Amino acid sequence: MLTHTLFFLATITSVLSCIDHTNYFPPQHNHSNHLSIRAEEGDTKDWSYPSFNWPEIRVEYALCHNGTQQSPIGLSHSQGHSKKITPVFDRYKKAKGELYNWNHGVAFNFYHPEGDFSGLPSMEIQGQGRATERVFLTGWHMHTPSEHMVDGVRTHAEMHFVHVNTNGTARAVIGVLIQAGTFDSPFFAQLPKPLIYFSNDSTVQNIEIDPYLAIREVKDYAKFWTYKGSYTTPPCTQGLQWFVSRDILYTSVRQMQEILGVGTYSAREIQQIWLHEVNA
Ligand SMILES: *[C@@H]1O[C@H](CO)[C@@H](O)[C@H](O)[C@H]1NC(C)=O
Ligand SMILES: *[C@@H]1O[C@H](CO)[C@@H](O)[C@H](O)[C@H]1NC(C)=O
Ligand SMILES: *[C@@H]1O[C@H](CO)[C@@H](O)[C@H](O)[C@H]1NC(C)=O
Ligand SMILES: *[C@@H]1O[C@H](CO)[C@@H](O)[C@H](O)[C@H]1NC(C)=O
Ligand SMILES: [Zn+2]
Repeated sequence: MLTHTLFFLATITSVLSCIDHTNYFPPQHNHSNHLSIRAEEGDTKDWSYPSFNWPEIRVEYALCHNGTQQSPIGLSHSQGHSKKITPVFDRYKKAKGELYNWNHGVAFNFYHPEGDFSGLPSMEIQGQGRATERVFLTGWHMHTPSEHMVDGVRTHAEMHFVHVNTNGTARAVIGVLIQAGTFDSPFFAQLPKPLIYFSNDSTVQNIEIDPYLAIREVKDYAKFWTYKGSYTTPPCTQGLQWFVSRDILYTSVRQMQEILGVGTYSAREIQQIWLHEVNA
């Protein structure tokens, strides 16, 4: 029963705190502010990498194994470019929030009043024969190496921008594949250094982030794969429209070493393509 209650709280937590690593959040110093539920949840993370047999841990993780639209999946350059569903980054503006480490890598949550997402940076999902939907960016986090594979290859890292609808249900993830290159990435240059280490539960408050810098660095997200998928961490909740950029975001070698240096292995194994409607 306790487990069940915790799971229920965790589900709400994922909705309000807007990250797909539902059961593990660092402690918060102020429980009455925007992320309070996350704090009350405490340290209940009961799964870890690189084991992916998550239903073995809790019956509530069964969807990780029986789901029909699980993420990540393998993608290929030979797949056509979807023109039917498009993310439009019309309100991807600068906003403030807190930086932390989700215990596998750098993560960030934008501030918002509890239950009110309307002031967050947002984008519109436009689709032919599909109602357009505005979704709000609650935060982002890093996985190392990348979770999605392209033609069988993982990049050094992948960033997930998590979006919810007005009622707080997670609806869309913008995935950006990241690789070490030659020059500093402006998106990563805006983060205060040193980055928080994976075992450090501190948060750094009042950080302003311009999420559009990342979008610009992948050529305004002109080319992408899209499919119906899930959280890549327990409880593997489905109902997310995924967008993965075909252009890679390049950091400098030094930046990538900083990113990798504060993270741990955090890529789920590739899921079989089933009812994902890739680029449909
Ligand atoms: C916690 O945050 C709330 C809302 O922002 C504020 O009113 C309150 O004074 C804060 N409490 C502490 C102890 O900082
Ligand atoms: C699949 O897992 C989910 C989540 O635990 C569960 O609610 C559902 O009943 C399972 N479906 C089947 C057919 O076992
Ligand atoms: C919230 O949005 C989801 C997805 O659109 C929908 O399935 C759900 O019924 C909504 N919940 C409420 C309480 O409006
Ligand atoms: C944890 O991170 C905070 C914020 O960056 C930093 O001030 C603090 O020194 C770190 N603690 C340890 C033990 O490294
Ligand atoms: Zn993720």
